[in-house]
Amino acid sequence: MLEGKFFYKGEFLEAGIEIEDGRIKNIGKLIKGKKIRGLILPAGIDVHVHFRDFEEKHKETIETGSLSALHGGVCLVVDQPNTKPLIDNDKTYFFRMEIAKKKSYVDYSLNLALTNKNSGEIKEIIKRISKKYYLPAIGEVFLEHSNEELEIGYENLSKISLLWRVSLHAEDPSFVKNGVPNFLYRPKEAEIIAVRRCIEISDFHFCHLSTVEAVKAVEKTDSSFEVTPHHLLLSIEDFERLKNFVNVNPPLRERSEVEWLLKNFSKIQILASDHAPHLSEEKNLGIPGFPGVETMYPIFVKLATLGIVNFRDLVEKIAVNPAKIFGFRDYGEIEIGKFANFAVFDLKDSRKIKAEELHSKCFWTPYEGFEAIFPKKVFLRGEEVLESNVRGGKVILSDFSSRL
Ligand code: NCD
Ligand code: ZN
Repeated sequence: MLEGKFFYKGEFLEAGIEIEDGRIKNIGKLIKGKKIRGLILPAGIDVHVHFRDFEEKHKETIETGSLSALHGGVCLVVDQPNTKPLIDNDKTYFFRMEIAKKKSYVDYSLNLALTNKNSGEIKEIIKRISKKYYLPAIGEVFLEHSNEELEIGYENLSKISLLWRVSLHAEDPSFVKNGVPNFLYRPKEAEIIAVRRCIEISDFHFCHLSTVEAVKAVEKTDSSFEVTPHHLLLSIEDFERLKNFVNVNPPLRERSEVEWLLKNFSKIQILASDHAPHLSEEKNLGIPGFPGVETMYPIFVKLATLGIVNFRDLVEKIAVNPAKIFGFRDYGEIEIGKFANFAVFDLKDSRKIKAEELHSKCFWTPYEGFEAIFPKKVFLRGEEVLESNVRGGKVILSDFSSRL
């Protein structure tokens, strides 16, 4: 039993919560329990992380990435399949889920890679995986190394999207070159044109949209989309500060683009970090990607205290919508029947982000020196897990009957 100031049905409520078997059994003003100081928000869900492992375990592992997520108030992640080797078949998928079962601090779910090599048998692979695990999406996340591979093509994607949720990294490869700073080499048109073509043929989940035009185009459709903290907060002007570290895909955009996105935060469906860790020496060579799973909720809680976004929108983008759109029915809200997953923030506890205090293996952050409010407690299925450092994570199993 817990008592405190909970975010409940869109507002804050002083109440008590009864928890049984990790789920919220009852919520009410008369329920008494252990008093929790601070704001109790639904723990975050990050639907776009790259926890690497395998041959890139020097950059991040499920263990370090999920510890970073936990310290950022995130209770569930969706990992991406562009590992080395790729997660493009059920065997590698199962192998990775076994690692997550042993090592993950937070709940874990995993997308499957969709490439021109496996597209012919994708239906069978999906069937085998989803007998056991909940498969949130299949991801065509590699447009950039698939110039020829795009034979699988926009058309083929439409057939596959009828089968399962397809999440796209939408940047048209014919517009994309490599270089530092990559905002000079990957223009806005690459995203806008790819998005416009895709929405003509089917509904998708668009990863990390970074342009006003793309957001406006997708908004009018049944497709879903996410935006990253860096596309809402950083711009090409940060090149002076970040130097070679500036590269991220899609690239940072002009100030005006970023300002529009942040001003229109309420229109954004999902806030997702695209946590893409690389070591400093790799970043220096221009390898694209920013870490972000640990800093996302803390930075935005700070922005909420400053009135730049509001708590209602924040909770919607970081918890409610990711759960709804990706079908994590037990997550995303403080509500009877759902898991008791909370992140508790003490609004007076604002401090400057320092890479050395974060838990990712990559040891750097594009947000060095930014003010943030980190959670002082995190509850996972009713257990306080932040201080105890317990590996409380569970992999999400399939709920076969509801999907097939
Ligand atoms: C991604 C990564 O490092 O896995 N990097 C990124 O900048 N988003 C891969 C990619 O999308 O290019
Ligand atoms: Zn990514």
